[in-house]
Amino acid sequence: MYNKILKGKKGIIFGALDENSIAWKVSERVWEEGGDIVLTNTPVALRMGNIDHLASKIDCPVIPADATSLNDLEELVESAVSHFGGKLDFILHSIGMSVNVRKGKEYTDLNYEWMKKGWDISAVTFHKLMQVLYKKDSMNEWGSIIALTYIAAQRTFPNYNDMADNKAYLESIARSFGYFMGKDKNVRVNTISQSPTITTAGQGVKGLEGFLKYAQKTSPLGNASAKECADYVVMMFSDYTKKVTLQNLFHDGGFSSVGVSQEIIDFLEKK
Ligand code: NAI
Repeated sequence: MYNKILKGKKGIIFGALDENSIAWKVSERVWEEGGDIVLTNTPVALRMGNIDHLASKIDCPVIPADATSLNDLEELVESAVSHFGGKLDFILHSIGMSVNVRKGKEYTDLNYEWMKKGWDISAVTFHKLMQVLYKKDSMNEWGSIIALTYIAAQRTFPNYNDMADNKAYLESIARSFGYFMGKDKNVRVNTISQSPTITTAGQGVKGLEGFLKYAQKTSPLGNASAKECADYVVMMFSDYTKKVTLQNLFHDGGFSSVGVSQEIIDFLEKK
């Protein structure tokens, strides 16, 4: 049933916390397609979530790392390269957290220490990770690096709070570092902008239910699920997308290109 389009490819997947995590679904699909994975998450997430179930299902090691720590990232990359006995072909950055969102702070009343922490976790970790990979020359040529993002980077979604700014920064890092990854290493770097999805991080956003329904009614193909996102990531890790780089790729059932749908008009005109 599977085409094993990732056979022989090896990489690191960040951010699988529980069965709902997008990174969890990506790990399952990458494994089904023949890829070899090292899973990683923070020590706290490893205790709180159930990543061990995933690791035993897909028979791969879990290496703890806080992605804000350069030291942890260096050790992680070294351990992954030594585990595989060679360089890496793919990386998924599926990391996001806003302390302000978590603690219910409004965008007009942000705590700037919390803002910095969320920015570091959600955006700067992508730079740190790529800098470690670049300096250690740990990626194989034609490797693929992906980070997950949301359309609040381009359009205003009030409840997305400071995560909107973090995502804009993340997408910019993808383009800026992606240039050097392309020129110097022949590695591609892209972000995938996913539909709203019910996960632990997703549920932290106030009014997620409303987001989901609005997006569902707006998108001609409907919202993309985490599993469908995983399929897209598999394609982006495969050799079928070797010259796609520096892009923010919308995976949202067409949401990003629609002004208003007939369904929304009908709903608003309902007496
Ligand atoms: P999730 O809560 O399952 O995943 C977030 C992950 O970030 C968790 O595994 C968490 O442990 C990890 N993390 C937090 N701090 C970390 C740190 N310091 N070092 C390493 N890992 C850390 O939620 P989800 O939704 O799967 O999120 C994955 C990515 O997808 C995030 O970047 C999120 O913003 C993005 N995304 C989510 C959407 C949604 O509606 N759920 C929509 C579009 C993008």
